[in-house]
Amino acid sequence: MKNDIINVALPKGRLGDNVYEMFSKAGYRCPELENPGRKLVFENSEAGIRYFWVKPSDVAIYVEKGAADIGVAGKDILLEYRPDVYELLDVGLGKCRMAVAAPKNFRDDPRKTLRVATKFPNVAKKHYSSFGRDIEIIKLNGSIELAPILGLSDVIVDIVETGATLRQNNLEVYETLFGISARLIANKPSYRFKDEKIKRIQDGLAAVKGAEND
Ligand code: PRP
Repeated sequence: MKNDIINVALPKGRLGDNVYEMFSKAGYRCPELENPGRKLVFENSEAGIRYFWVKPSDVAIYVEKGAADIGVAGKDILLEYRPDVYELLDVGLGKCRMAVAAPKNFRDDPRKTLRVATKFPNVAKKHYSSFGRDIEIIKLNGSIELAPILGLSDVIVDIVETGATLRQNNLEVYETLFGISARLIANKPSYRFKDEKIKRIQDGLAAVKGAEND
C-alpha cells in the first residue's frame, strides 16, 4: 500500500549524510542511496521508506506541503520560515548558533539606521524589533561575511559554527542570539494518518542519539 511508505526529505550535504547515518542505524538503511549517481529519490520498500535529497532550506516546505511526511531541518530554518509542521525531535546534529557579527572595532551608533546583511531576514527583524532598533535588511543568499568587509552592511546576522569564517575575515561575534541544531519535523496530516510508523522512526532516532551520547 502506498500509505505504507514514509517519505523523508533529507538536507543535501554533510548534515544530510549524518542524518541518513542515524536513519540507517535506526534500521532504515537504503542501499540504493549509498551509490546515488544523479538519482534524487531512493526507496527501500521492505523498510517502508523513501528518501529524497533537497536543499537544506527547502526541507521545511516539502514537509509543510506534504510532499514529504517527515524531514530534518535546522532550527534556524524553522525560526526563519515558521512552517506549519510538528517538531518531533532534536536529533542533536548540526549544532551551531545564530549570531550578530561585525568587524572587530564595531560600535553601534544608535543615531544611524543599522545595515544588517543576512540570509535570515525574519530572524534579524525579530531580534532588532525586540528592542526597537531601526535597521535596514540587506538580504543575501551566501558569503554573508563579505558584506561588512566591502561596506555593504554594518553587521551580519548569520550562523557561526567553528568561528573560522569570522576569524579569517577579521570579524567577531557581537551578540549570540540562540543555539541551533537539526530537528526531525513532520507534516501534520501525515502525523495523524501514519502516526505509528512516524513514531517508530522518531523513537528509533531518539535511541540512536541516546546511544551516541553515552
Ligand atoms: C555558513 C555560514 C557561515 C559559515 C560558518 O555558510 O553562513 O558563513 O557557514 O561556519 P564556521 O563558523 O564554521 O566558519 P555556508 O558554509 O552554509 O555557506 P554560504 O556562504 O553559502 O552561506
